[in-house]
Amino acid sequence: MIVAPSILSADFARLAEDVDMLERSQAQWIHCDVMDGVFVPNISFGFPVIKAVKEISDMPLDVHLMIVDPDRYVGAVRDCGAMIMNVHYEACTHLHRVVQHIHDAGMKAAVTLNPATPVSMLRDIVGDLEMVLLMSVNPGFGGQHFIRHSLTKIAELKALIEEAGSDTLIEVDGGINAETGALAAQAGADVLVAGSAVFGAKDPLEAIATLAAL
Ligand code: DX5
Ligand code: ZN
Repeated sequence: MIVAPSILSADFARLAEDVDMLERSQAQWIHCDVMDGVFVPNISFGFPVIKAVKEISDMPLDVHLMIVDPDRYVGAVRDCGAMIMNVHYEACTHLHRVVQHIHDAGMKAAVTLNPATPVSMLRDIVGDLEMVLLMSVNPGFGGQHFIRHSLTKIAELKALIEEAGSDTLIEVDGGINAETGALAAQAGADVLVAGSAVFGAKDPLEAIATLAAL
């Protein structure tokens, strides 16, 4: 299992220490949650912080943009050194064009679905995506409870990806801990994002190792 800890739950006053812990962990990616206070009712951090993380880590950055019209920032995300750029289906009028721009910029492209958006909305684009991110909470905040219906969506998405003959990864984000992570893994998740279950744990290295072993 690929584990992508979300630094939204890190200690921003000691970000370098938390990133150093991730470097020593079994996590493979770092998940960066960008919020604009418009698409979601919260504001987190932006490109200067992501750049600072890139400067002190070689881990691939998984940038999750919870912002309206993310097409405006493809170049900025590329300049942060992101490996993959996640845009919300609900935030893009011309999703296909945005995905083309992400690829033209040399990044992998992922599309994120809110809990109420059906997986079937991606039928005509899933073959062009390196990853689909299913939100298992409503985006905007860490520390929320996993929405159980997400498990059905993971299975539906897996079927859609197989039907398309694609090797698109399935990432799940929100309320992931050892228990919900195991359920998501059984349903077909390839990548688990975890914020509070990692940074709120007594032993974050162990929390990551538990998820990585799923
Ligand atoms: C929520 C973010 C998540 C969040 C996950 O809007 O997209 O990545 O940090 O936090 P937990 O794991 O605490 O639900
Ligand atoms: Zn996220």
